[in-house]
This record gives sequence, structure tokens and C-alpha cells, in this order.
Amino acid sequence: MKVLVTGGLGYIGSHTCVQLIAAGYTPVVLDNLHNSKLGVVSHLKKILDQDVQYYVGDIRDRQLLQSIFAEHDIKAVIHFAGLKAVGESVEKPLEYYENNVYGTLALVQEMKAAGIKSIIFSSSATVYGDPEEIPIRETTATGATTNPYGRSKYMVEECLKDLHIADPDWSITLLRYFNPVGSHPSGLLGEDPQGIPNNLMPFIAQVAVGRREQLAVFGNDYPTKDGTGVRDYIHVMDLADGHIAALQHVSDKAGVHIYNLGTGTGTSVLEMVAAFSDACGHPIKYQICERRPGDIAECWADPSKAKADLKWQAQYGIAEMTADTWRWQSNYPNGFSD
Ligand code: NAD
Ligand code: UFG
Repeated sequence: MKVLVTGGLGYIGSHTCVQLIAAGYTPVVLDNLHNSKLGVVSHLKKILDQDVQYYVGDIRDRQLLQSIFAEHDIKAVIHFAGLKAVGESVEKPLEYYENNVYGTLALVQEMKAAGIKSIIFSSSATVYGDPEEIPIRETTATGATTNPYGRSKYMVEECLKDLHIADPDWSITLLRYFNPVGSHPSGLLGEDPQGIPNNLMPFIAQVAVGRREQLAVFGNDYPTKDGTGVRDYIHVMDLADGHIAALQHVSDKAGVHIYNLGTGTGTSVLEMVAAFSDACGHPIKYQICERRPGDIAECWADPSKAKADLKWQAQYGIAEMTADTWRWQSNYPNGFSD
């Protein structure tokens, strides 16, 4: 079964391609290399011992979509492509709405024209804003988003729900990721952020490998276990498997299927620093700084719906997330540029 994977050369998409092939699916990748490098392809080949078919192009290029759908018998689309930096989205809201919202509409319109009515969309815990309850369930209120990136995810969710109301044949799966971290256990594939990392784990990894001097811990006065922010970190391999589970259990069923993909466990910034020090064998230098505007104190998922319906649950803990990240970062200190 062929699956179109938009953004398939990016961080989560590339790991999902590995697991798709392991599960017997054939990914067809479409990526415009906005936030990824072609080098990913040779790393995928080393892991898989086979080629992954890919197109370098944009989800907004309707002619390209038409030709891909004409050439391949695509049964479902996993839609990762998009822009994801919260801070940048505040500076460049139009680019975010254009890529994330309009891009998804172009993709879905061309899917409709080609008679493909199954999409798995990369949503985010960001749609819950500052959540009204923890752990966060799929029924927890969404929409009080705090930045254009978050709003773009919320808008796409609402567009896709309306599409299903208009045409109930569609299978719409909204996967709300918590905090994806970690790398493929081979050390051949991982996150390769461009410029200064926005997120905690890649920043710690770059400190560990000597690319950056120290971590700034954004606040230690939150009402959390040790005062630092608490998040539900999920191993990217578990996240990838969540997409396979969605393909197997709901992508051929009409409906709107919404799942939190998280572990159900919260980890603080200082706990993550300690775990990474264990993984790399030396202390991670850090300094306590001001809170980062817009950050919430804590959030973690109630992942029980995914367990019940998709027969999926996260397997890996913080020790594997940090050890696998360290293997990737120490093998490839400069990411795919190496
Ligand atoms: P990523 O930036 O590594 O991957 C996205 C890929 O999409 C990149 O390879 C990029 O080149 C490509 N892309 C962007 N715009 C495109 C376009 N118009 N046409 C074709 N390709 C395009 O990001 P990721 O971490 O792998 O995230 C994948 C998806 O998951 C994104 O939609 C993101 O918003 C969502 N998500 C990520 C996180 C996270 O923390 N990583 C959390 C929640 C949700
Ligand atoms: N943090 C630091 N120092 C850093 C980076 C982060 O102390 O250099 C802290 C943050 O304050 C927060 C925690 O580490 O307490 C996690 O921060 P991340 O930036 O790694 O992750 P966020 O939870 O802030 O953001 C993530 C995704 C967003 C998404 C959001 C909600 O990156 O795309 O989850 O789902 F919108």
C-alpha cells in the first residue's frame, strides 16, 4: 500500500518512513527541503538497505500533486509538511498561514480530485493552549492558542472537521503530538535543526557535543516539581509507530479520529538535563534565566484513547530518548551537513 508522506525528509517524517517500510507500506515522499536536507535520503538508505522514493517539491504545487497522484496508487496521505517554529510564526504569520493552512487546503483539494479520502494530519498539543485540565484528554477544550503556529494547527483541524461534515466518506485522523524527541537507535537519523535550536532537547544535545556553551533554563519559579517547565516528551520512534497504528486501525474508516500521542508522564527541564548528563557521561552546563514568554508551566497527555483504539502506547522512556539523541549528535555533530 502506497502512502504519500508530505514533509517526509523532516525530523518526524523521516523516522516515520523507516517504520512505514518496516510495516510493509511504501512511502512516497514529497518535501520542499525548506527545513531538511537531501542528505537524509542516503541515511535512510543505510538504515533500510533500499531506496525511498521522493519528490523535491511543494504541497502548494497543485500540478505536482496531480502528477504524483496520477503516477502512484496512493491510498492515504500522512501530512507532516509545514512550518513549526513558534517564535518565527509571530514574526511571519502570513508565511505560516500560507504554508500550513493554505498548503493543507491545496493538498486536500487535490486529494479530493484524485479520489483519495484518507489523511493523517500532524497536529500538536499546542491546540490546547494553556490547558484547562492535566492530563490533557482529546476532549479538553482546544482553540485558545497563543501564537500563529498554534492557530494554524487549530485552523487546519477545524477545516478538516468541516470537510468530514460535508463529505462523511473522509477518514480524517488528527494526531496531537506532545514533545517529540530522540533519534533512530542506529544513530544515523535524528533532528537537525537549522540555526539556534528553539527546543530543549536539541539545545542540550548541542551543548553536550560542544557546539554551544551552556543551556539557558527558562525559569525555575513555575509551580512544578522543581520549578522548571514540565513536558510530556515522546520518543520519535514511538511517535512514528503511532502513525503506523493510525494507518492500520482508523485510516480506512470514515470519521474524524483524534488522538493524543504522548507518554502520559511529565519530565522537568532539570530532570532532562540530568538524564542527558547520564547519557553522554559528562555534566551539561546550564544557567537559570528568565521565563520564556508564552511558555506554560506544565502539560502532559492522557494517552489512553490511543491505547484503546489504536493498540498503541509509547515504549521508550527518557533514558532511551537521551541515549539515542546522544548517539546521533555525537556521530553527526553538524547533522546531515556531515
Ligand atoms: P520538520 O521541519 O523537521 O519537517 C517538516 C518537513 O516539511 C521539512 O522537511 C520541510 O522541508 C517540509 N516542508 C515544509 N513546508 C513544506 C511545503 N510547503 N511543501 C513540502 N514540504 C514542506 O518538522 P517535524 O518536527 O518533523 O514536524 C513535522 C510536523 O509535525 C509539522 O507539521 C509540525 O508542525 C508537527 N509537529 C511537530 C512537533 C515537534 O515538536 N517537532 C510537535 C507537534 C507537531
Ligand atoms: N526550555 C528551556 N531552555 C531552552 C528550550 C526550552 O528551558 O533552551 C524549556 C521550556 O521553557 C519548556 C521546556 O524546556 O519548559 C520544553 O520547551 P520546548 O521548546 O522544547 O517545547 P515546548 O513545549 O515549548 O514546545 C513544543 C513544540 C511546539 C508546540 C508546543 C506545544 O516545540 O511546536 O510544544 O505542543 F507548539
